[in-house]
Amino acid sequence: MKCRAAIVRGTDQPWEVTEVEVDPPKAGEVVVRWAAAGMCHSDEHIVTGDMVPPEEAWEMMGIESFFPIIGGHEGSGVIEQVGAGVSSVAPGDHVSASFIPSCGRCRYCSTGRQNLCDAGAGAFQKGMITDGTSRHRLADGTDVNLFAKLGTFAEYSCVAESQVIKVEPDLPLDAVALVSCGVATGWGSATNRAAVQAGDTVVVVGIGGIGINAVQGAKMAGAKHVIAVDPVEFKREKAMEFGATHTFASMEEALPAVAELSWGQMADKVIMTPGVLHGEMMALGTQLAGKGGTIVVTAIAPITQTESSVNLFELAMWNKEIKGTIFGSLNPRADIPKLLAMYRDGQLKLDELITERYALADINVGYQAMRDGTNLRGVIVHGG
Ligand SMILES: NC(=O)c1ccc[n+]([C@@H]2O[C@H](COP(=O)([O-])OP(=O)(O)OC[C@H]3O[C@@H](n4cnc5c(N)ncnc54)[C@H](O)[C@@H]3O)[C@@H](O)[C@H]2O)c1
Ligand SMILES: [Zn+2]
Ligand SMILES: [Zn+2]
Repeated sequence: MKCRAAIVRGTDQPWEVTEVEVDPPKAGEVVVRWAAAGMCHSDEHIVTGDMVPPEEAWEMMGIESFFPIIGGHEGSGVIEQVGAGVSSVAPGDHVSASFIPSCGRCRYCSTGRQNLCDAGAGAFQKGMITDGTSRHRLADGTDVNLFAKLGTFAEYSCVAESQVIKVEPDLPLDAVALVSCGVATGWGSATNRAAVQAGDTVVVVGIGGIGINAVQGAKMAGAKHVIAVDPVEFKREKAMEFGATHTFASMEEALPAVAELSWGQMADKVIMTPGVLHGEMMALGTQLAGKGGTIVVTAIAPITQTESSVNLFELAMWNKEIKGTIFGSLNPRADIPKLLAMYRDGQLKLDELITERYALADINVGYQAMRDGTNLRGVIVHGG
């Protein structure tokens, strides 16, 4: 079938809405009609190149070519067609995307760490994770890649069954889309990876679609102080609405205030969720944590960056730990439905996360708003 999709042909280029041809699903695959797609900062990283592996590493990584690529990995939609052997969904089912597949059988899936599923290793490679061949082509016949093997910036795409999770059909699909990346990643960074406890002092650095949910998660876990740091005033106001107790425009400003609030003990947990994580930001990031403190690195750093400013003496002598996380270290198959159930019961805010909805044709307007800091989260509504 033919449909429209937002692609990029190389770094530092705007999104281009163009026609793509989507083939029918083969074994273990489904075609999804995407309804909504969240505008996460991770898609911006393929535009800036921060998440594009260097070309000299492509051969070793099994990447034939990275571009052109359909963007979008936060999404929700309706199953249009299923391939042979698909058993977890049927046409008409509503689904959440899962930017990490969960095969259910690998070492990681079978030990409750679906966020590390071995099938995720194919995310950067061309072709389907099922058999390596391509189902998507541009009008001139060129194969087109899918970001995170999802491509939710397309009206339709063909994805592996392991990357869709059935959700209840009465849930609003734009709310479902947000849970599939930003909400789960931020909330899980606080409640799971940082393991925020009642009474903790928590600092969240960077209040976008991810950080705001770390604020929401820390509050829900019972933190005493939830300190939100962002240079944009609108983000600081939003953080207060989602459970922050204090806000600051920079880590420099937050540092003495956190010392005072905690009677010199500093934060128990620091969660790093800025748009881009530059190595030098870790100096203050780690200083904000006190003795025995945990610093969770959720934000994406430029892919080739290998240096980071961390006082290793203090890391050892203050018994601190720095932890990475993908998808808030949650299990998509268990936790996406769990978060949606919390939304249904009024415990988790989702509708309030959306600042603006965009038609696909206006994708560049939406990403400019993300760069300008005027959106907490923008959402593309297909057919809207
Ligand atoms: N680990 C994962 O699994 C995962 C999943 C999704 C997104 N991410 C990453 O998380 C990060 C945040 O994504 P997002 O969609 O929320 O981005 P966003 O652009 O919506 O928000 C980032 C926020 O950080 C703020 N910021 C920038 N520099 C700052 C600084 N020095 N101090 C404090 N605040 C600062 C910006 O003002 C903005 O409000 C991105 O790097 C994204 O790629 C990681
Ligand atoms: Zn994302
Ligand atoms: Zn697996």
